[in-house]
Amino acid sequence: MIAYQDLSPLELKAELSELQARYTAFKERGLKLNMARGKPSPSQLDQAAGLLVALPTDQRPLDSNGEDTRNYGIIRGIPEACSLMAGLLGVPFANVLVGNNSSLTLMYDTVARGMLFGLRGATPMTQQGKLRFLCPTPGYDRHFAVTEAFGFENIPIPMLDDGPDMDLVQNAVTDPTVKGIWCVPKYSNPQGITYSDTVVRRLAALKPAAPDFRIYWDNAYSVHDLYPDSVYTASLLDLKTACDEAGNPDIWYMFASTSKISYAGGGISALASSEANLAEIEAHLSIQTIGPDKVNQLRHVRWLEAIGGGEGLALQGIHQHMRMLAGMLAPKFEMVDEVLNRELAGLGVANWVKPLGGYFILLDTLPGLAKQVVAMAKDAGVVLTDAGATWPGGKDPNDSNIRIAPSYPAIEELEMACELLAICIRLAAVEQLLAG
Ligand SMILES: Cc1ncc(COP(=O)(O)O)c(C=O)c1O
Repeated sequence: MIAYQDLSPLELKAELSELQARYTAFKERGLKLNMARGKPSPSQLDQAAGLLVALPTDQRPLDSNGEDTRNYGIIRGIPEACSLMAGLLGVPFANVLVGNNSSLTLMYDTVARGMLFGLRGATPMTQQGKLRFLCPTPGYDRHFAVTEAFGFENIPIPMLDDGPDMDLVQNAVTDPTVKGIWCVPKYSNPQGITYSDTVVRRLAALKPAAPDFRIYWDNAYSVHDLYPDSVYTASLLDLKTACDEAGNPDIWYMFASTSKISYAGGGISALASSEANLAEIEAHLSIQTIGPDKVNQLRHVRWLEAIGGGEGLALQGIHQHMRMLAGMLAPKFEMVDEVLNRELAGLGVANWVKPLGGYFILLDTLPGLAKQVVAMAKDAGVVLTDAGATWPGGKDPNDSNIRIAPSYPAIEELEMACELLAICIRLAAVEQLLAG
C-alpha cells in the first residue's frame, strides 16, 4: 500500500469517500463491543471452574500447620499460599505475604502507609510537602491514579524498548521529593515490554536522595506468556537479588495477584519486600485486619495443586493453567495484529508492536488523532480505553496512544472491532492530511 503522505489530494479524496462508506456501513450494524479494559473473557474464567469446588465439604479446611482457614488470624497468609506466591514472584518465603483479592489494594495501602506513618522511621509523607512519583509512560492508568489521589506530582518517564529511560530515572532520584517509581517489569501494561537485565540492575543500584524512595514492582504479568515453552518468551532478572547485590536491600516492594490466572477480582494477591520492610507492614496490617481470606487462599492452592499434579505442585499448576489460557489468548492477539496489518501496514498512519505476553497492545496513531479515533469508534459501537489514559493525568501530549485490550471480546467480535478501529484511524488520518 502507498503511504497516505504520498497520495495526491484527489487520491486522498477518493480514499476518504471509500472509508466514509465503510464507516457508515459499520455504524448501521449497531455493534456493541468493548475493548476498553483488560478483562479475562467469560470462557477464560470458565477454565477456573475447579476453583469453586476445590475444597471438600466433608473435611475441615485446615492449612499445612493444622490451622482452620475459616477462622481469624495468620496475618501473612497460610504457608502454602505464601510458598506459592513466593514462587510466583521468585523470592524466598520469608519475603512474602499473601493478601486478599487485589494487588492494587496492596499497592494503594503501601503508598498510604508511607503517607500516614512514614517508611522505616522517615517522616510521614503527608508532612514532607509537595512530593513526586516517577511514572514510566505510557503506563498503567490505575497506578498513576493512586499517586495522583495522594497528591503526588506524577512525573512521566519515557519508556524505551527495554524499560524506562534510566538516565532520566537516575537523574530524577537525586531530588529528595521523588519517593518512588511505578514499574510493570514484564509484559508491561500497555506495551508488553520486558525490562532488560541492564535496566533491572540500574534500578536496583539507584542512589536516591530520599531514604523513603521505593521501587513499586508490579509483576502482574509474570506468567502471562502468549507462547510459553518457546523462544518467544521474555525473561526478567530477579530484582531482589539485584538489589541485595547493589547494597539496596530495602528499596523494593513487589506485587502480584492471580486476577488474570483465576478470577479477576476474586483471586489472591501478594506483597513481597525485604524482611525488615515486611515486618513494618505486618505491624500496620495487624491493626487494619485480623487476617486475610484464608479460605480463598487454601482453595487456590488446592485447585492449582490438582492441576499441577499433586501436593506442593501449585506453582506447576499455575504454569499448566497459563499454558492453556495462552492457547485462548494468543489467537486473539494474532487476530488484532493480522487485521491491523491488513488495514494499516504501509499507510504511514499507525505503529504497533505485537507483544509476546501480557494483556495489551499499544497502538500509536499520527500525532493529534487518538482522541478523535476513540470517539469515532465509540460512535460506531466500539468502546476503547480513553485516549490519554496511558499518561499521568490522562494527558498524552502527542494525542497518539491507543491501548487495545484483546482478551474480553470473542474472536469474531475482535475482528470486527479492529477493522472498525483501523477504518477510524485511516479516516482521521486522511481528514488531517486533506486539512493540510
Ligand atoms: C499492571 C497491573 N497491575 C495490577 C492490576 C490489577 O490487579 P488486581 O486485580 O490484583 O488488583 C492490573 C489490571 O489490569 C494491571 O494491569
